[in-house]
Amino acid sequence: MALQWYPGHMNKAKNQVQDRLKLVDIVLEIVDARLPFSSRNPVLEQIIDQKKHIIILNKSDLADPKITADWKLNFEQEGTNSIEIDAKHTKGMNKIKSMIRSELSEKIQRYENNGVQNYRIKAMCIGIPNVGKSTILNRLVGKNVAVTGNKPGVTKNQNWLKTNIGIDLLDTPGILWPKIDDPKVGMKLALSGAIKDKIYAPDDVAIYALNFMETHYMDQLQESYGLTNADIFNHTTPELLMNLTKKFGYKEDYDRASRRIIDDVRKLKLGRLTFDIPGEFYEE
Ligand code: G4P
Repeated sequence: MALQWYPGHMNKAKNQVQDRLKLVDIVLEIVDARLPFSSRNPVLEQIIDQKKHIIILNKSDLADPKITADWKLNFEQEGTNSIEIDAKHTKGMNKIKSMIRSELSEKIQRYENNGVQNYRIKAMCIGIPNVGKSTILNRLVGKNVAVTGNKPGVTKNQNWLKTNIGIDLLDTPGILWPKIDDPKVGMKLALSGAIKDKIYAPDDVAIYALNFMETHYMDQLQESYGLTNADIFNHTTPELLMNLTKKFGYKEDYDRASRRIIDDVRKLKLGRLTFDIPGEFYEE
């Protein structure tokens, strides 16, 4: 089943972002480091040229570090700087401040040349649900704050948050849903937990994950589940799922095995994985 994307949602989110864009110096686009393509925001792509912006690859603790480095290079070649962080464990947070200062160096220089003291840089965090916006905001603000954009129906008053890095953050606007034209993007978002589990059948998502791992992370797959070459070669991926179901001791409960595989992916039991590979995401 495909996730519906209504043009009305898109326009509303776009207008909300656009309205706020003029209030800030820079936009922090948060993506999931496991999905630097699939978790990018479709709204932002259309309007971002108007503003300085950096990409924050959050959840880097879960992603394949080599592919994260490739993505950083890829974004740089496209003209956007990016940093990787792990907000959950408060790692790399100081890179946010230094990257913002470097992006806005001319403006900061002007402030300093003109003797302006105590200037505040204004930024806005945006990202699809579950990429870690609230976690990042909480780390930067130093206490728990509610991200209004995550809650449908909450008044969308502008809310400035003072951070501990000399930057004022404009609370994120309304919910920025991902755009899912490509069914593979939907599978990846489901696998990462960005889309509610009930939207896709667990066996479809698990088969997608196993198939992707057979192509890109065969060693990790074999090692994590103790699979021999004979378990893998000359078997289709659905057959592999059936074999794993037996191996887990779940008899013929393929849904249970599928849910376990999805959970194992999310909890790092299969190692650090990235499901978007630069330049390859339409081929795998
Ligand atoms: P959102 O506002 O963008 O919707 O995302 P939020 O901060 O609520 O984070 C969604 C989930 O991702 C949370 O997990 C959060 O702990 C986790 N998370 C955020 N940043 C990172 C990170 O850098 N690394 C890892 N590994 N996880 C991260 P949860 O399961 O909803 O809650 P909990 O497990 O923290 O209780």
